Amino acid sequence: MMISKKMQDALNSQLNKELFSSYLYLAMAAYFEEENLTGMARWMKLQSDEEHVHAMKFYDFIIRVGARVKLEKLEKPQEKWESPQSAFEAALEHEKFITKSINELLDLAVVEKDHATSTFLHWFVDEQVEEEATAAEIVENFKLVGESKSGLFMLDRELGRRGSVPQA
Ligand SMILES: [Fe+2]
Ligand SMILES: [Fe+2]
Repeated sequence: MMISKKMQDALNSQLNKELFSSYLYLAMAAYFEEENLTGMARWMKLQSDEEHVHAMKFYDFIIRVGARVKLEKLEKPQEKWESPQSAFEAALEHEKFITKSINELLDLAVVEKDHATSTFLHWFVDEQVEEEATAAEIVENFKLVGESKSGLFMLDRELGRRGSVPQA
């Protein structure tokens, strides 16, 4: 294979994290359904799909470099959040955790002079900038809405207009 055993393990670990992200956002979608916030539920379902696409990018890359895909157990995601805002705050915190993980992967690729993996990871570095910015913007929108019921209704409508996810 074109990559080290250590890199293979690290890439498989990131594959698991992307699948967990998909699982977590699906749990958030179900939470929003229960709260009758169908626009936010739709947004989170699309986010879950997007994370599955990320996971598949890792899957395809691992295969392409002749390494072995190893699927591990998925952690059980949280089911309830204190408020819609706190669910999006948790999503932002999760994206920060993923950014850190991608950066550590890239650090390893640089140390190993693994140019193939470094180049592959650059897409994810850019993607994480987008992911954090989007989540942060939504959290800011919640802060503007405050306790306003009509504001929450408008924000739900707005988030429900999100377009579908392009496939990898
Ligand atoms: Fe992701
Ligand atoms: Fe993400």
